[in-house]
Amino acid sequence: MRRRVLLLAFFFSIPLLLTSALPARNKPKTAASDKIRQDFSNFVDIPGAQMAGQEQCAQCHADLAKGFHFSQHAMQEVSCEQCHGAGSLHIAAGGYTTESKDKIISFRDRSAEKANGVCLSCHAKSDHVRNWFSGAHQAQDIKCVDCHTIHAAAHSDSRGEFQGETPGIPRAIESLRQMNDNCMRCHQKQNAEADLPYHHPIREAKMSCMDCHDPHGGDAGNNLKLSNTNQLCLNCHAEYQGPFTFQHAPVNESCLKCHSAHGSPNQNMLSISQPALCLQCHSAHHNGASLPLVDRCTNCHNAIHGSDIPSATGGSKFIDK
Ligand code: HEC
Ligand code: HEC
Ligand code: HEC
Ligand code: HEC
Ligand code: HEC
Ligand code: HEC
Ligand code: HEC
Ligand code: HEC
Ligand code: HEC
Ligand code: HEC
Repeated sequence: MRRRVLLLAFFFSIPLLLTSALPARNKPKTAASDKIRQDFSNFVDIPGAQMAGQEQCAQCHADLAKGFHFSQHAMQEVSCEQCHGAGSLHIAAGGYTTESKDKIISFRDRSAEKANGVCLSCHAKSDHVRNWFSGAHQAQDIKCVDCHTIHAAAHSDSRGEFQGETPGIPRAIESLRQMNDNCMRCHQKQNAEADLPYHHPIREAKMSCMDCHDPHGGDAGNNLKLSNTNQLCLNCHAEYQGPFTFQHAPVNESCLKCHSAHGSPNQNMLSISQPALCLQCHSAHHNGASLPLVDRCTNCHNAIHGSDIPSATGGSKFIDK
């Protein structure tokens, strides 16, 4: 009897065990997510070639091999041929010539699809790149190696000694400043905005583009990390997180109704300076009187993001002082 109860309990728990073993994410099936399940192994195939072993490669590519030795990939035991394909035919041909071009995978003239296919043969299911197939960069044929350096000279000092977790970190991703510079190399508009008088401290390397964007892409549009732009801003500017008794309608709609995200010539990164900003939506003032001629409406309306303080005439005029 006792055994039967146990047995029953076991059978009933099977579906439970199965569901809990499934990944928590429940992404809708789209063309893009089908693509993720594609097998990328053919992108590292070299027909007829055999693995020769990393030591062989080092014989002729000593400097590269020395630098590579200290990279994350080498530490994870990723070897040359897992990216460049099996090397026997390349070695037999004595190197890379016009005739033996197809005997080794060079990233030099490879199309984006084929170059990225090599990386995706391992990283397609990697957490960091899961958004790749729904992102603007994939759609524009950007390569992984436009942003990631695999063989960086900074990996080791002149004697090939490991430098530790110093600025020359042995990683395929670089310092904040280098990352930002790399993004701005292609994104000239944001590059210019970063130099405007009021800006997020990108140039100062206190922030990076990746605080708001996922470089690999995303369903959120604009490669943003969160589809709810206000929530993205409020993660760091929590003092404006409501709910307030009296909300200022445009603040709830979008911070970008009044602010630019990257930089602006106007104080407080306003997309239009005061009072013109406010006058887009407001025309009359106290009892229909014309608006006072001031630079800053927020001299008086200082709680412009929302307030709990009612005004004498009802509602709130966002005057907390
Ligand atoms: C017998 C010497 C020799 C061996 C061994 C050898 N290579 Fe090469 N390889 C060359 C020469 C020569 C070139 C052409 C000159 C250059 O780019 O350094 C070359 C070019 C390459 C290139 C293309 C570089 C480019 O222009 O984009 C890659 C990739 C490469 N080798 C990878 C490997 C790998 C991986 C191995 C180990 C499986 C290996 N090689 C073993 C001699 C060799
Ligand atoms: C994780 C993938 C990966 C691994 C592993 C890897 N490489 Fe590379 N290799 C690349 C990429 C990508 C490039 C193109 C240049 C770049 O972005 O650094 C490249 C470029 C090269 C080149 C030509 C570039 C040049 O400066 O002449 C050679 C030769 C080469 N690799 C050899 C090797 C050897 C030898 C090993 C092992 C010691 C190795 N690679 C391991 C990805 C890899
Ligand atoms: C043979 C499998 C394999 C291939 C092919 C491969 N990687 Fe990796 N890569 C790994 C593993 C394993 C790690 C370490 C674990 C992790 O971070 O996912 C790693 C780590 C990384 C990292 C983070 C660590 C670091 O060095 O900063 C980056 C970035 C990266 N790979 C980019 C690439 C790019 C770009 C390519 C194609 C040129 C590539 N990988 C090809 C297996 C691979
Ligand atoms: C537009 C630039 C860009 C492109 C293109 C890009 N990456 Fe990245 N990748 C980054 C940056 C920047 C980071 C660091 C992310 C961060 O700090 O939030 C990163 C992080 C990673 C990591 C995780 C490193 C770690 O351990 O934290 C992996 C793995 C990786 N990228 C692989 C790839 C692969 C594979 C591709 C191509 C399919 C690719 N990336 C294309 C910019 C890029
Ligand atoms: C504080 C958050 C934040 C930071 C930091 C940030 N962005 Fe943005 N970015 C946004 C938001 C929000 C949008 C969408 C609204 C818009 O177009 O301004 C956007 C849009 C974009 C767009 C698409 C719209 C266009 O004008 O082409 C690009 C490209 C872009 N950002 C690049 C960058 C680059 C490059 C960096 C780093 C230099 C960066 N962003 C830093 C928030 C940010
Ligand atoms: C090799 C050039 C290149 C590099 C490097 C690059 N991008 Fe882009 N990026 C593009 C192109 C091309 C587009 C598509 C056209 C556009 O919107 O400007 C794009 C689009 C974007 C968009 C807009 C997405 C959309 O939906 O419109 C954002 C945001 C963005 N990139 C952020 C970044 C960030 C952050 C980095 C650095 C990690 C970066 N890019 C590095 C070329 C690049
Ligand atoms: C990763 C954190 C982070 C995110 C996300 C973020 N900010 Fe900021 N923001 C900062 C920092 C840091 C400063 C600079 C503060 C300083 O200099 O005292 C700043 C400054 C500002 C300023 C004041 C600029 C000035 O010149 O006075 C405004 C306005 C602003 N952010 C709006 C936004 C908006 C809108 C968003 C969403 C698109 C956003 N922030 C997202 C961190 C963030
Ligand atoms: C109706 C226009 C408007 C909207 C919408 C708006 N702001 Fe503002 N914001 C302003 C004005 C005006 C100032 C300047 C306030 C002053 O002069 O004291 C300002 C100033 C700021 C500052 C800099 C002042 C400080 O505290 O350092 C930050 C940060 C900021 N806003 C964040 C946000 C965030 C986050 C959102 C979205 C939740 C948002 N704003 C939505 C108008 C707006
Ligand atoms: C994108 C349009 C928009 C912008 C820009 C905007 N507002 Fe508003 N504002 C509104 C809306 C909508 C309401 C709520 C409707 C109402 O009660 O009249 C409101 C309400 C107000 C109220 C309370 C009105 C009342 O009768 O209770 C004040 C005060 C106010 N805004 C001041 C400002 C100031 C100051 C600025 C500039 C820093 C500004 N607003 C920018 C749309 C805007
Ligand atoms: C000298 C202080 C002061 C300045 C500057 C100021 N306001 Fe006001 N505003 C007030 C007061 C006081 C009220 C009425 C509050 C009440 O009814 O309790 C008010 C009310 C409002 C109202 C509510 C509608 C109404 O007529 O009562 C709006 C909208 C408004 N102001 C917008 C603006 C705009 C836009 C600017 C900038 C062009 C501005 N204010 C500049 C003090 C000011």
